[in-house]
Amino acid sequence: MKTIICKDYDEMSKKAAEIITKQVKEKPDSVLGLATGSTPIGLYKCLIEEHKENGLDFSKVKTVNLDEYVGLGEKDDQSYIYFMRDNLFNHINIKKENTHVPESNKEDLKLDTEKYNKLLDDIGTRDIQVLGIGVNGHIAFNEPDDKLNLRTSIVDLTEETIEVNSRFFEKKEDVPTKAISMGLEDIFDAKCIILLANGKSKKEAIDKILNGKFVDTNFPASLLHLHPNVVLIVDEEAYNG
Ligand code: F6R
Repeated sequence: MKTIICKDYDEMSKKAAEIITKQVKEKPDSVLGLATGSTPIGLYKCLIEEHKENGLDFSKVKTVNLDEYVGLGEKDDQSYIYFMRDNLFNHINIKKENTHVPESNKEDLKLDTEKYNKLLDDIGTRDIQVLGIGVNGHIAFNEPDDKLNLRTSIVDLTEETIEVNSRFFEKKEDVPTKAISMGLEDIFDAKCIILLANGKSKKEAIDKILNGKFVDTNFPASLLHLHPNVVLIVDEEAYNG
């Protein structure tokens, strides 16, 4: 795992944006795997700036997102589809039909997972997959457990994740308890994985990745040691605490 230590959140975001900008310039029809949450917002701002000021062209780019809450419609401002439109898609020249966020239609969740797995198979290996990390080491919504899913599945969020994510909702009870999430095999099907982490709350998790010489499904991010091309971009707070 290659590690890049940045002085702060802005530098981390710029570094990640540089890698993605280079990728899209070199291969205009790149397939990008995207994440939500607070971590990649700065990266998306930089990409919007690249598009508006330097004409970075997303017209042939395709994107697939890691996950989505179950039970929030696309109009709900906490849904990940809303987040992606609001923080990136609506501000660049990407085609709506080239953007994919898993759907979680409560009526038939099994069908939703099957549809997303088919989509991932059809779209093929991603050029870059962006990841954040949960304080408990989750990647996408693969929560610590004795077994982890290989493919997109419906998952239960842990109490810890519900608590941490309640900062985005009015009250904790509003946080969905289930999500649809890519599995580990899906996440690994990328030529390069960029793992982003900033802030003190991520220090323990980053320390475990960098200094724990193990892989453990109860700390899902540790499995990233098994991927041949992971770039960890951290700010000093996440690195030093
Ligand atoms: C989001 C996702 C999650 C987040 C993680 C960190 O699509 O899959 O794994 O990356 O929960 O969230 P933030 O960035 O809000 O700390």
